[in-house]
Amino acid sequence: MIEKTPARPSLDLRRFETRKRSHLDLALRPEVEATEITDLRQIRLEHDALPEFDFAEVRLATPFGKGSSKRELATPFFVSGMTAGHASATMLNRRLAAACARRGWIFGVGSQRRELDPALPAIDAWAGLKSESPDLVVLGNLGISQAITEPVANVQRLAKNAEADAFCIHLNALQEVFQPEGTPAFKGGVAALKKLATKLGLPLVLKETGCGLSRRTLAKIRALPLAAVDVSGLGGTHWGRIEGLRAAEEGESVRARAAETFAEWGVSTVESVRAAAEILPKTTEVWASGGVRTGLDAAKLIALGATRVGFAKPALEAALAGEAELDRWMETVEFELRTALFCTGNRAPAELRGTLAASKARSAKTKRSRR
Ligand SMILES: Cc1cc2nc3c(=O)[nH]c(=O)nc-3n(C[C@H](O)[C@H](O)[C@H](O)COP(=O)(O)O)c2cc1C
Repeated sequence: MIEKTPARPSLDLRRFETRKRSHLDLALRPEVEATEITDLRQIRLEHDALPEFDFAEVRLATPFGKGSSKRELATPFFVSGMTAGHASATMLNRRLAAACARRGWIFGVGSQRRELDPALPAIDAWAGLKSESPDLVVLGNLGISQAITEPVANVQRLAKNAEADAFCIHLNALQEVFQPEGTPAFKGGVAALKKLATKLGLPLVLKETGCGLSRRTLAKIRALPLAAVDVSGLGGTHWGRIEGLRAAEEGESVRARAAETFAEWGVSTVESVRAAAEILPKTTEVWASGGVRTGLDAAKLIALGATRVGFAKPALEAALAGEAELDRWMETVEFELRTALFCTGNRAPAELRGTLAASKARSAKTKRSRR
């Protein structure tokens, strides 16, 4: 059956580009980060004073994909989707993609919404990424509101444009409500995800954008054949805050005031990872992002059950500071994770994974009380 192309609301290109540029500027302001309410600091990993192996033996390598497309990447890290949709993002994306390819990180592109409209001039941000860096793993990206209305073939076209190895659908309910031109139309979301997960022909990743995933949301998606869920929880970039500032700049005082009320809205990354590790089937990987700022944060989230850990704002900041700074920042994050692994007596992320997950903690407690 051929799906009909939807009557898509036409995109005001000038306003769209201004919005994307303003997102980039506002995202760098410290007050839009919810790092002051992160609960990552409350998690402590247990120090092992006698690891019984050498630091040099610690390996970060983590597999990606399944079956014949399974391969090993040098790290469990990814750069979360960001910044697409306007011309000045191209240089940043190329810099980030090249660094990801060099260091074995996955590279997520930002929302490809603009590419849905054939009438819009192409900005060609992705073409050639793979020919420059054949080993790069790329994640495509589109919002749920568009995923609901677009035929699968259009999403396949976006995946092809980005030469994507997997495709992310992002959830951003709070942002769509506060964005003056937002589209908070989520009716049919689960059905659209089901259709994409079975028909897209690529692994599907469902991600939030900084407000996390509650048990209620996770229960709705538990039965879907998703390759991974990136929780992108509360504790870092907060889109309610960003859209609130934009609404204030545009004189939209109702949205601006309401956005202040919701400045701490969301489920923390720690809570989201805990819940996802408990609720999702083993076939769906748990990826953690949202306020992850160091390799030690990453280690804590791996201990809670995450397979991969992602960074958005810190990667953007490092990329803006230049290629050398981006490389130094990535190396620091990797070194911090290796240090956390060594000092907890684990040679690899897979050995640390889940050691703080609720079920493990429970069985450890039961074993202790049986003694
Ligand atoms: C400038 C910027 C643009 C973003 N654009 C997108 C996007 O287009 N699609 C998406 O799924 N997430 C987008 N995000 C959200 C991130 O992928 C991530 O989920 C969120 O920022 C939380 O991570 P952080 O605290 O490390 O920034 C964007 C984030 C930033 C900072």
